[in-house]
Amino acid sequence: MKAVIPAAGLGTRFLPATKNMPKEMLPIVDKPAIQYVIEEAVEAGIDDVLIITGRGKEAIENHFDVAYELEDVLEKRNDKEKLREIKKISEMVDIHYIRQKKPLGLGHAILRAKKHVDGENFAVMLGDDVIVSEIPCIGQLMNQFEEYGGAIIAVGEVPMEYVERYGIIEYKKINERIYEVVNIVEKPSLGKAPSSLAVMGRYILPPEIFDCIEETKPGYGGEIQLTDALQILRKKKKIYAYLFEGKRFDLGNKFDWLKTNIEIALRREEFRDELIAFME
Ligand code: UTP
Repeated sequence: MKAVIPAAGLGTRFLPATKNMPKEMLPIVDKPAIQYVIEEAVEAGIDDVLIITGRGKEAIENHFDVAYELEDVLEKRNDKEKLREIKKISEMVDIHYIRQKKPLGLGHAILRAKKHVDGENFAVMLGDDVIVSEIPCIGQLMNQFEEYGGAIIAVGEVPMEYVERYGIIEYKKINERIYEVVNIVEKPSLGKAPSSLAVMGRYILPPEIFDCIEETKPGYGGEIQLTDALQILRKKKKIYAYLFEGKRFDLGNKFDWLKTNIEIALRREEFRDELIAFME
């Protein structure tokens, strides 16, 4: 299966850091966010990735390219460990790039992938959502997709007071982890949220989604929203939501980015004890 990673958003909630640096390149401890996303894809067996970029996002392409001068220096220093780490990044997977010329929304960004996807089912992984789990989240969705078909989106429980930040689903429960989606509301106000299950940046979509995006009018924030296109798709195909196992980190805003760094550093043996002592 191919994966599409939209990474063309302007990242306005993270200014000034994102003035000249893609949000997806913000480091979490020592790795840019988008590298965690690509590693998740590779671990799930995905061998073809299309990143949707835009102006000012060249750092993403450079990160996954060969860094000839750096490799040369590390080789001369005989720093084998760092050399291996650096080479691994450029050898991980086949990465393709296409530009979204104007940031007209997530749905619009995904539409850029139509030719590359070429009529197949495909995975969508948001470039600023990092998910830590035993089994890669996108792999969990792929397993469910084999069983249920249609379209599958990852969801997670969020506190009611945060529903305004997410796409929230209304559902019919099938079992503990699978729900049939009957409606999705983009960033509902507190009283209007149909549940507290939020869409979490991982999807398996059928190619029919592209026609649905083409039919979609600008919605919330004047952008072509994937959520609105999914509403159109729902009339043609079943959409399932899967309560995935794992923890999702949203890098969209500054405070979440700070928390993500702390949580991920706490999972790293080399930092754990010192960080706890520091925080105490
Ligand atoms: P966000 O809404 O979180 O990203 O989009 P943003 O627009 O960059 O954020 P702010 O609100 O200005 O801070 C979710 C994902 O969709 C991509 C983003 O890069 C992010 O991965 N996206 C969004 C696009 O690729 N193109 C767009 O036009 C909008």
